[in-house]
Amino acid sequence: MVRKLRQVQSIELDLGNDWPLIGRAAELERVGELYRRHGSGVVLVGAPGAGKTRLARECLRLAKSLGATAVDCIATRATSALPLGVFAPLLPVVHRGVASATDHTDLVLRCREELLDAHKGTGLGLLIDNAHLLDGASQALVELLAKSREVFLITTVDDDAAGTDFVVSLWKNSCLERVAVEPLADEWIDAFSSAVLGGPIDWATVRQLAEASEGKPLFLREFDTPAQGSKRPDGVVWCADNGAYSDKWEETKWWAWLVKNAPYAESCLFATAPDVVGDAEATIERSRPWLPKIRALGYKVAFAAQDGQENLPVPWDEFDVLFLGG
Ligand SMILES: Nc1ncnc2c1ncn2[C@@H]1O[C@H](COP(=O)(O)OP(=O)(O)OP(=O)(O)O)[C@@H](O)[C@H]1O
Ligand SMILES: [Mg+2]
Repeated sequence: MVRKLRQVQSIELDLGNDWPLIGRAAELERVGELYRRHGSGVVLVGAPGAGKTRLARECLRLAKSLGATAVDCIATRATSALPLGVFAPLLPVVHRGVASATDHTDLVLRCREELLDAHKGTGLGLLIDNAHLLDGASQALVELLAKSREVFLITTVDDDAAGTDFVVSLWKNSCLERVAVEPLADEWIDAFSSAVLGGPIDWATVRQLAEASEGKPLFLREFDTPAQGSKRPDGVVWCADNGAYSDKWEETKWWAWLVKNAPYAESCLFATAPDVVGDAEATIERSRPWLPKIRALGYKVAFAAQDGQENLPVPWDEFDVLFLGG
């Protein structure tokens, strides 16, 4: 009986058409540490589309690699209308009991026993996606399981629901560690998009992607669509605009990106030095220190001619391409 349950409950962590995981190393390291220390588990909190489910599945995969039996369930609005509905696919006792049970306390206790019995000795890694949608009886079961210390709980919660009583109690009373699923940083958006599109993308585009996607992998996947032909064909030439027109532009990040992509400088038509939109005088002052540095990386460097350049000297010897801006 126990063996049969294990077969049903142990899932294959096939990530299907998911893309390679980007970032989240610190979060996974923390989860591994908690698992090894027999912690109760984690609550992964983030905005819709921030990557909570994906991170939770990676945490479960990690727990499995450390010896746990991996089980996952997804709470939805539909399961929230049924007592213990989310556990129905896992626990025969729910099928047998729900129809007749008037006393949910007894049913919750039987579910706890059945789950723990089935996984005695192995440790259970239990993922509950969208834990904020659990019904009351399931919430009670989760709280009991957290206290048992025999189950490592990996839960996800939408940040809108992070203040509800049950969710607060997960970290306050059940001692699950709260882990924020933050938007992906620009560097990860760059890594993610250039890996998917098959080559470097310029920093201006990275910034545009960051702003349009708000750092959410869900949206990023919609923008980076190699299946629709956005993949960079082999042998194609490219340009590296700077993105300095944005008020969120950061010089150090742009420079780090340019340095990182220097091995591809040969196929790059030009890399534009930072400029000031609509202001030639300010552009000359801003660009000039960068022109030799960009060249030294192996790029052909572009100087942006901005409004008013016609009345000012052009530093012709210091750049390779004149970029008509303004
Ligand atoms: N770190 C990541 N690396 C690669 N792909 C990711 C990453 N995070 C999320 N994704 C992908 O982005 C998409 C959306 O992520 P996910 O479903 O985990 O977001 P979510 O926060 O759970 O969304 P929802 O609020 O709708 O439940 C999925 O296809 C997922 O595989
Ligand atoms: Mg999700």
